[in-house]
Amino acid sequence: MRVAIDGPAAAGKSTVAKQIAKKLDYLYIDTGAMYRALTLIALRNQVNLEDEEALADLASQINISFRHKEDGQDVLIDGDDVSDDIRQSDVTNNVSIVAKHKLVREHMVEMQRKLADEANVVVDGRDIGTYVLPNAEVKIFLVASVEERAIRRHKENVDRGISSDLEQLKEEIERRDQIDSQREMAPLTKADDAIEIDTTSKSIEEVKESILTIIQDHS
Ligand code: C5P
Repeated sequence: MRVAIDGPAAAGKSTVAKQIAKKLDYLYIDTGAMYRALTLIALRNQVNLEDEEALADLASQINISFRHKEDGQDVLIDGDDVSDDIRQSDVTNNVSIVAKHKLVREHMVEMQRKLADEANVVVDGRDIGTYVLPNAEVKIFLVASVEERAIRRHKENVDRGISSDLEQLKEEIERRDQIDSQREMAPLTKADDAIEIDTTSKSIEEVKESILTIIQDHS
């Protein structure tokens, strides 16, 4: 069983995907974390983010892996845990530039398909239902208004003690969606056979239950 969960930034994909994977004992694969990991290393090495070849080279030199745990996963680069570092704002605000390059995506997609071959999976991303796993048994497209998404992210930041500006978050989310939707290769878009769920006025629990029902109907 392959469950693809796509949608724009901060729509609640990873929260819901993790919980569903835990409940069903499926493997959770966070594909955004892979693009984030490459972005982190590119920034640390001062690689020009418009230099596709240099980024693809870098991607082939590093080993990105996941350490699965009960409530999600840690992300490792060459064995180092970078789970927190890849959530920093400089990574978040540059990851879409790195992820727009064809050679980078080809590299990541190959890894993602291999991981998805190993087990029952819940995979979250932008192009899972359209490109990475076009034959996934269940495809979900999660959306929410940009205001709602910014408010959720803002609350998360405040809870974590990270300084946060709501208006700035809104602009960053919109910018990221725009780059992700307009890139040439595998842009963010709903697969024709995906089921769209608008999470704007729904709780995590409600969204989770809807998706679990859809999965059950397919099993
Ligand atoms: O899901 P998350 O917000 O962590 O994704 C970070 C970024 O990685 C996205 O904004 C997008 O640019 C890129 N991404 C992608 N394709 C995926 C997953 C993420 O291009 N399948």
